[in-house]
Amino acid sequence: MKHLIVAAHPAADSFTMGLTRTYAAELEKLGHSQRTYDLYRMGFDPVLAAHELVPVSADHPASADVVQAQDDICAADALTVIYPLWWLSMPAMMKGYIDRVFARGFAYEAHNGIVRGLLAGKKSVLITISGAPLPLLVKSGNWNAVQVLQDTHIFRSAGFELLEHLHFDEVEPHLAKATVEKHMERARSCARQHFAAD
Ligand SMILES: Cc1cc2nc3c(=O)[nH]c(=O)nc-3n(C[C@H](O)[C@H](O)[C@H](O)COP(=O)(O)O)c2cc1C
Repeated sequence: MKHLIVAAHPAADSFTMGLTRTYAAELEKLGHSQRTYDLYRMGFDPVLAAHELVPVSADHPASADVVQAQDDICAADALTVIYPLWWLSMPAMMKGYIDRVFARGFAYEAHNGIVRGLLAGKKSVLITISGAPLPLLVKSGNWNAVQVLQDTHIFRSAGFELLEHLHFDEVEPHLAKATVEKHMERARSCARQHFAAD
């Protein structure tokens, strides 16, 4: 299978980016091909420009980086998106990727307020990280908000079959080595569970 991994964290040595490398390496170990979009390191421009709101035509061609990013989604069987929860949402870098790349006409169509996803047939995995404990997020209703806005409103609405939303909670600076390794093994196990037989 072909995988596209899209990750957003400003620090290359962060837990988030370490997790991204571990997950990517496990997919390769399973015999899959993968391409990682490390949005910060590749200098992805997250700002949607006014001209990108105009329907694409000969006079209004799409931006080259968006076309490339959309081609890379089309070429992939599965998309894995990895980011820390910032203010219970995704970093602006990731939001900008979604705004620009999951464009109307590519990721969805909408008629009379009804949205139809255009990326049906593709699988996705969502991996998020929080400082707060998951039980606290669940109790406050915040986890439900995350699931409604991110799992459902973005990924399922675009047509993806969301295989798993894997979440790592209580991720603070200076985690014990053993805790980090336990988390890395959960990421490897997620890759194996969904993609071992392919
Ligand atoms: C700008 C910002 C906003 C954050 N907002 C939240 C939040 O709303 N809820 C939460 O549990 N953690 C929040 N955190 C904590 C991060 O989710 C957590 O520190 C991070 O995921 C740990 O992973 P890292 O080491 O890869 O950065 C926030 C961190 C930053 C920098």
